[in-house]
Parts: sequence; structure tokens; C-alpha cells
Amino acid sequence: MYIKSSLPDKIGYYYLFRKVSSLNEDNLKHLVAVVGAGPAGLFAARELSSADVHPVLFNRDIKPGGLAEYGIYPEKHKMKEVLRIQFRQILEMECVEYFGNVLIGNHGDICLDQLRQLGFQAILISAGAQGTKWLGLPGENLKGVYHAKDLVYHYNRLPPYSQQKFEIGRRVAVVGVGNVMTDIARYLIEVMHVDDVTAIARRGPGEIKFDRKELEHVVANLDLKGVDEEIERAAPLMWSLGQDPNYPKTFIHAVYDKAAPTGSKTHMTMRFLLSPTRILGDENGRVRALEVEENTLIREAGEIKARGTGRRRVIDMDTVIFAIGDGVDENLGLPVEQFEFIKNPNPRFPIEDVSYEAFDPVAEEPIDGVFVAGWARRASTGLVGIARKDGVNVARAILQYLQTREELQESPLPGIKEFMRNLGKPVITKQDLRRLEIVEQERAQQLGLEEFKFSTNEEMLAVIRQPL
Ligand SMILES: Cc1cc2nc3c(=O)[nH]c(=O)nc-3n(C[C@H](O)[C@H](O)[C@H](O)COP(=O)(O)OP(=O)(O)OC[C@H]3O[C@@H](n4cnc5c(N)ncnc54)[C@H](O)[C@@H]3O)c2cc1C
Ligand SMILES: NC(=O)c1ccc[n+]([C@@H]2O[C@H](COP(=O)([O-])OP(=O)(O)OC[C@H]3O[C@@H](n4cnc5c(N)ncnc54)[C@H](OP(=O)(O)O)[C@@H]3O)[C@@H](O)[C@H]2O)c1
Repeated sequence: MYIKSSLPDKIGYYYLFRKVSSLNEDNLKHLVAVVGAGPAGLFAARELSSADVHPVLFNRDIKPGGLAEYGIYPEKHKMKEVLRIQFRQILEMECVEYFGNVLIGNHGDICLDQLRQLGFQAILISAGAQGTKWLGLPGENLKGVYHAKDLVYHYNRLPPYSQQKFEIGRRVAVVGVGNVMTDIARYLIEVMHVDDVTAIARRGPGEIKFDRKELEHVVANLDLKGVDEEIERAAPLMWSLGQDPNYPKTFIHAVYDKAAPTGSKTHMTMRFLLSPTRILGDENGRVRALEVEENTLIREAGEIKARGTGRRRVIDMDTVIFAIGDGVDENLGLPVEQFEFIKNPNPRFPIEDVSYEAFDPVAEEPIDGVFVAGWARRASTGLVGIARKDGVNVARAILQYLQTREELQESPLPGIKEFMRNLGKPVITKQDLRRLEIVEQERAQQLGLEEFKFSTNEEMLAVIRQPL
């Protein structure tokens, strides 16, 4: 089958008269299910395929890329496009199969046991950290309380979050001081033009986690005097713990000195040593304030930890967004502890001293043939490069495991394809993705946009179904 495109751009160039490959089943030795086609799953698939192993990717979303597509800030066009090119190259590989719009898990389209029955010899869970982490505070169900990941998915146009209504008010508290906080603040400043953004840290200025590059996007709106006062307030405590308050101060000032204007009047500040304890609502069930407890810091086992002082105060807010990281999806069918899948503490196939093996704490043994990588191994940790490395390493662990398994005598692939055709919902193939990319690229050109993205599954499926 050949796909013809009239596009003179990079997508058109890639796919112009390119043969649409099907899985080469002749030299298939092992078959591995890869659950999740984000950076970890895609780079694992590439590594596996270089060793006569056929990876079959199952992805919840129609499009691949995970948070690289639907998490990285939308304006980072160059970075996102470079990643998309790498992902396309992986999907172009003959022995990499892709089934999109397929949810794996206990309440999904296919559960882990069914994957085993379909003939996969190993299963890699690289589904990211899809569970939202909440603090369990009174008032979390009020209107105007959100989890950062849901909002991030929304503004990156991932269905169905793209269609969800977010009632962002004028005064927004963002809990957490990592890079997700800066992305959320950027959106609130650049797009929503809210009056006030307050980033709330449970620990001190010495524990800020955002990077210089990410702070750059919001620093022009930062109330520098207010931040300096907060650092001064924390200074005696920091000195007592051997921390130099001048370090975070100099860091923030250095970024501020190079600030580019955002064109928005939003006032942004940071408050340290505060833990949310309660969200207060008005008579309409909407957030009106955030109650926080003041913290002190202690050093315990070499780590700086926040400890509540019992003193509470109330800050007027109409929106609260938690940017405190995510947990893994408990419905995937693997045991979870502390927001993460449990890993084999004594791995049979460690790579660089890391365990990639899923573990059953009740049976006290590894779950045979099931591996975890990327944010599914360590929730909300690291950049794309880290997920990529984890994908490569887990593939090495899986290859060692497969040496303990017999090679396949007969390919289960025809049966798997038949099963997917009869799943009772549209299953997206590599050909479908190409078609979608071409149409989105055409639409971007017509509209004079840097990129165009359909924001519902219905629109994407309609395009995919259209005859060429
Ligand atoms: C807001 C935000 C901004 C970021 N910005 C940057 C940045 O600028 N630069 C950078 O380097 N890193 C950035 N990161 C980090 C980067 O996105 C992650 O490191 C990386 O995407 C993690 O890759 P992953 O493959 O482990 O998981 P993910 O990227 O989350 O991919 C998971 C994949 O699994 C699929 N999936 C989920 N559940 C299932 C299921 N049950 N069945 C089947 N498929 C499933 C999803 O559809 C998805 O495709 C950002 C992260 C966030 C949250
Ligand atoms: N542009 C980028 O490059 C980019 C953008 C977004 C994300 N990322 C990456 O994605 C990963 C995840 O980012 P992230 O911002 O979600 O995580 P993060 O960097 O770990 O920051 C999480 C923040 O939430 C706070 N927090 C966690 N649990 C809390 C609790 N129970 N109560 C109060 N506060 C709590 C943390 O405070 P403590 O420190 O006290 O725990 C920290 O300030 C990081 O590796 C990040 O670099 C990168």
C-alpha cells in the first residue's frame, strides 16, 4: 500500500510514496507487549526490535508521544517537533506494531491476563503516571480545585481533557514549586491572564525544584520584592540548617535580570513553609480560600523535611491547582505502593543496579515477564531524556529475560491482529497515524499556524476514515 501526499514539508517528505510496512513475521523470535507509547515505551520498542524481538505498542491515546506530545508546554514547538520526528522514525520500523486508542488494564479494553493469553512472552508497562495524587484535604471536591496534569492535558488538547471545563478564577494558588508549577503559572499568565498566581511550597527556598529555563517564562511577572521578603523570613531557619539563603535569592535574581516581558499584568509570588490543610468554599460550592499550616524545617536522615507548627492562616483564593506530582494508574492490574508500582527488591535482571521487574508483595515473588519503565517505574521523575534511557535499559532487562524463554515456533501475530480488529472500537494503526499527521499538517498550513491539533477523538477518527 502506498500513501501519496502533495505536501512539500517534512511530513510529506517522510511519507511521500513510502511503502507502508507490515510486520515482518519471518524471523520473529519473541513477541513483547509494550503498554504505552510515550518516550519510555517508544525507545524500549526501538531497542527491542534491534534484537529480533517484535514489540507491539498498545497506546491509550490515538497519537503516540505521551507527555512529550500532551505534557510539554505547547509553545515549545521546536522541541516537540524534534521528538515527533524521532517517534515517527521508530514507528516506521518494520517490526514495530502500533495499536492506538486501546486502554490496557482491569477496566480497560484488554487486561494483562488477556495480553498473556494472546501469546506475548513479556509485557512492558510504560504507561506513565496516569493516577492523580491528592492530599485528601477537606474541600478538594469544590469547584475550582484541579490537578495540574488534568489542566496540562487540557491545554495540550488531549481528549477527553481537551473538552473538560476548567473554571479558572482570578486568584490562583498553585501548590508545589517544581517545573510543572512553572508550566501551569506560564499558562495562567500568558493565556488566562489571571490577576494573581501564588506558588506554595511546603519546604523552604532551599528546596525549589524548578529550573532556570522554566522560570524564565514567568519571572517577568514575579513579585521579586515579595519573594525576597519570603526568603528573608526563612533565612534564620535556613542558616540553622546549614543552608545559605543567598543561593536561591541569587538564582532567582539572575533569571529575573534577563526577564523577557510576557505582555500580561498577572502578579505572581511564592510563599514558602506552608502546607495546605483545607480548602474553603462559598455558598455556591466554589473555592473562596485556602487554609494553610505554617511549617518549620528539620533535618532527618540527611534530608530536609517540613514539620507543621500548628499555626494556621487563611489565604483568599478562588482556584487551587495541585502541582505535586502524579501516581501510577491503580487499574493497570499491578500492585501499587506509595503511588508507584512495586518493583522486585532483588531483581533477576538488574540494569545499572535498577530493578525493572514488577513484584507481587503477597506472593512475595516477581510477576513473571512483567516489567515497568519510565514514569510507570518512577512516577513524575525526570525529563524525556531520562524516560528514553529507562526505555533502553528496560529493553536490555527484557532481552535477558527472553533468553530464559523458548523462541516462538509459530507467530501469534495473525491471531492478535484478528483480536484487535474485533475489539469493538476503532483501533489506530501506523497507517492511520500517517493519514492524521498529513491532514493536521495541511490544516496548519492552511491556517498559517505553527501546528494544528484536532482536540477530540471523533475529529481524529473522522479524518482517519476519510478516503485518501
Ligand atoms: C507538564 C509537563 C511538562 C513537561 N515538560 C517537559 C519538557 O519541557 N522537557 C522534557 O524533557 N520533559 C518534560 N516533561 C517530562 C516528560 O514529559 C516525561 O519525562 C516523559 O514524557 C515520561 O515518559 P513516559 O513514556 O514514561 O510516560 P508518558 O509520556 O506519560 O507516556 C505514557 C503513554 O502511555 C499511554 N498509556 C497510559 N495509560 C495507558 C493504558 N492503561 N493502556 C495503554 N496505554 C496507556 C499514554 O497514552 C501515553 O502515550 C514534562 C512533564 C510534564 C508533566
Ligand atoms: N519544562 C520542563 O523541563 C519540565 C516541565 C514540567 C515537568 N518537568 C519534569 O517533570 C517531573 C515532574 O515535575 P513536577 O513539578 O511534577 O515534580 P517535582 O519537581 O518533584 O515538584 C513537585 C513539587 O510538589 C511538592 N509536593 C510534593 N508532594 C507534596 C505534598 N504532599 N504536599 C505539598 N507539596 C508537595 C514538592 O515539594 P517537596 O520538594 O517538598 O517534595 C515539589 O515542590 C520533574 O522531573 C520535572 O523536571 C519538566
